[in-house]
Amino acid sequence: MHPSSLILRQETEADCLPVEELTREAFWNLYRPGCDEHYTTHLIHAHPDFLPDLTCVAEVNGQIVGSIVYTRSWVVSDEGERIDTATFGPLCVHPDWQRQGVGAALIGHTRALVEKQGYPAILILGDPHNYCRHGFKTGRDLNVSTPDGRFPLGLLVLELRPGFFAGRRWAFHASPVFEFDPAGVETYDARFSPKEKRHQPSQDLFAMLIRAVVD
Ligand SMILES: CC(C)(COP(=O)(O)OP(=O)(O)OC[C@H]1O[C@@H](n2cnc3c(N)ncnc32)[C@H](O)[C@@H]1OP(=O)(O)O)[C@@H](O)C(=O)NCCC(=O)NCCS
Repeated sequence: MHPSSLILRQETEADCLPVEELTREAFWNLYRPGCDEHYTTHLIHAHPDFLPDLTCVAEVNGQIVGSIVYTRSWVVSDEGERIDTATFGPLCVHPDWQRQGVGAALIGHTRALVEKQGYPAILILGDPHNYCRHGFKTGRDLNVSTPDGRFPLGLLVLELRPGFFAGRRWAFHASPVFEFDPAGVETYDARFSPKEKRHQPSQDLFAMLIRAVVD
């Protein structure tokens, strides 16, 4: 891919289905047999916490090859102050286009948009392997935990205002859109072309990652 052929732009309503199809391709069998991320994206598109101004696609020759979807999240300090933050995920690149810088371009492009909108930080739940090189730190080091006081390995924070979290403890709250009934996934997935569900070792690694906490 020549760098000039990559276009990053805001997602439009017409992109919703192609983005969900791409998301299904990218996540299929990666973290569990099948996947639910396309359903998550579908729910986000209709949810009040969806942040369409920050949600972008990557396009090559008119084809959507990457997607980054943003939702509103918030942090609450130990003094009870609530501040809105931005969260991305699902983030994905079509398997044929991975490891060519598309994911990095989507993160870099939208990070600038988030900064422009004045958010103090981007908080995500993701695999640190993908995000440390973009400046994300463990929530543990910035005193940002889940509401129950835990520091999951996957809770990652990119401070956009240096020192923003210093001197206080914070709890991260993701949008309730992520707390969906898993039974809805099967029904929704039936709209798409059939794909074989199977086990892959990446699912075992994921099962370890989601139980790991930072001391
Ligand atoms: C994770 C994901 C979004 C990354 O997107 P991507 O476009 O592949 O990311 P990049 O190309 O920017 O970087 C990925 C790797 O390729 C490398 N890379 C980037 N451009 C490269 C190039 N031109 N040549 C060789 N390697 C390159 C990067 O250094 C990085 O290496 P690393 O994994 O060892 O750190 C993508 O792999 C994906 O969709 N995965 C499935 C869904 C998923 O797991 N999403 C994230 C959930 S946490």
